[in-house]
Amino acid sequence: HRHLLGINGLTELDIAFLLDKADQAVKLSRQREKKTSTLRGLTQINLFFEASTRTQASFELAGKRLGADVMNMSVGNSSVKKGETLIDTAMTLNAMHPDILIVRHASAGACALLAQKVGCSVVNAGDGAHEHPTQALLDALTIRREKGRIAGLTVAICGDVLHSRVARSNIILLSALGARIRVVAPSTLLPAGIERMGVEVFHDMTEGLRDADVVMMLRLQRERMSGSFVPSVREYFRYFGLDAQKLNAAKPDALVMHPGPMNRGVEIASEIADGPQSVIEEQVEMGVAVRMAVMETLLLSDNQEPAK
Ligand code: CP
Repeated sequence: HRHLLGINGLTELDIAFLLDKADQAVKLSRQREKKTSTLRGLTQINLFFEASTRTQASFELAGKRLGADVMNMSVGNSSVKKGETLIDTAMTLNAMHPDILIVRHASAGACALLAQKVGCSVVNAGDGAHEHPTQALLDALTIRREKGRIAGLTVAICGDVLHSRVARSNIILLSALGARIRVVAPSTLLPAGIERMGVEVFHDMTEGLRDADVVMMLRLQRERMSGSFVPSVREYFRYFGLDAQKLNAAKPDALVMHPGPMNRGVEIASEIADGPQSVIEEQVEMGVAVRMAVMETLLLSDNQEPAK
């Protein structure tokens, strides 16, 4: 079975194939009749051990638009509450013969572990601070549709890079497609050795955003911090929150992106999130299309031919 566990391991060709396929899915999703029978007869289970709005909803819609039967496991009401482990939970669902499991978990590597155990395709919907591959694909699709290319663009990824699987997947993907990546953050919110990923590091927003084509803001993940390492919201916004003055340093037509969920007034000012340069809602739309492209690619290559 084929899996999507991370951007690491995908070639430039794989990525281009998925983005082209997702472009087709955008067209379908904008029609009145959105449903196809591409995955008819196949079963998709969404298994989310962490909260989600965008990823879970878009995987569910993506599966339904492809004609699959989609089940959302509500982990909060499941036997996980009674102490059942991740693997036992997954093996229990595996016994019901799903064709694809979409998994989000707080631990890095959880999806890769499950992929070795279950008898179906697995998609990583976010594992700890490791990877969130479909988010990076939808971000790349948004950029490509807006700018016509990715190669040669300067992308500034700003904020809590330390805790961000979105940043990690985007650095790998956008670098592979030829973008220049900058990270802009206080040193306490950067992983040690981030330079080894081939990024330029800045600690000042105006410097880091200078002439950028894309400004990607990240949520301050306060729930993953403790004690004196939790910055004060007021101070954080003053130095690292995206407002009109800081955005002025980027190119006048720079895109403003945020994977969501966003904290208005913490990492981004409301007027910027809702402003003319923001493509945050387009990112959400691209999320459904990218997830359709990913599931169709994994499952059709498994089954060789579409369901009749
Ligand atoms: N961007 C993202 O993964 O959002 P959710 O946590 O709402 O799925």
